[in-house]
Amino acid sequence: MSTEYKIPQHVAIIMDGNGRWARRRGLPRTMGHAQGAKVVEQILEDADHMGIRYLTVYAFSTENWTRPDSEVKSLMNLLRTYMKTSLVKCAKNNVSIRVIGDRTMLDQDLQDSITHLENETRKNTGIHFQIAINYGGRDEIVRAAKKAALKAYDAAAASGESSRAHFEEVLQECMSIEGLNDQLDTAGLPDPDLLIRTCGEERISNFLLWQIAYSELYFTDAAWPDFTKEELEKAIEAYNHRDRKYGGLKKEAQ
Ligand code: FPP
Repeated sequence: MSTEYKIPQHVAIIMDGNGRWARRRGLPRTMGHAQGAKVVEQILEDADHMGIRYLTVYAFSTENWTRPDSEVKSLMNLLRTYMKTSLVKCAKNNVSIRVIGDRTMLDQDLQDSITHLENETRKNTGIHFQIAINYGGRDEIVRAAKKAALKAYDAAAASGESSRAHFEEVLQECMSIEGLNDQLDTAGLPDPDLLIRTCGEERISNFLLWQIAYSELYFTDAAWPDFTKEELEKAIEAYNHRDRKYGGLKKEAQ
């Protein structure tokens, strides 16, 4: 990859194709997920070495609970193992971890391991690694809107002024784009510059709906367990050929 290429600050990945990867090899789907988890660790290191500052991966969606119990269990066990075993590696590589999604639905021991790993890595200043678990973009926006509404209620109540006009004024602040941004699971993170989806599907599947408003999208046929540093470089190369305008005009048209 050319050293001239601009490295996206935040890359998000929909890791698709674990099941197909396994089926092609006559293996159970769970083996595809296990291989996928190994690839996550490798790509995190590669992304870090390339200078990517934020990496966010879709590990388990709010819809994935409808999969057979055995597959859900196996995915949860992979996540459990990851939370328990990555502390040393995160310390060595200066990685900070944040889990996004509604964790209240997860087993208590997994919630505890997540909180522990987040707390232990919070001050690390290297790559920021977000793992989406029981995550859905619509669910995240609804949860954020509820939090913003409650914040507005509390502010209005504290002011002692109960008129509708005053509440509207308070809402204006709490329910603004910035106000809602602050209540999302990704509060404080920059929006993804580049969203990658593997294994040939070209849809968003409820991932980071709010945050990808201006992200560049990249789709590859490689199944997630086959995704490599070279694949990531190809995505970055494609990103460098995009003309990001954020709704404005191209430079030469101004
Ligand atoms: C989609 O492939 C993949 C998932 C639903 C799970 C992704 C999870 C991992 C890679 C493990 C995560 C681990 C860590 C440590 C973050 P699919 O099963 O839908 O594949 P298919 O479409 O080919 O059936």
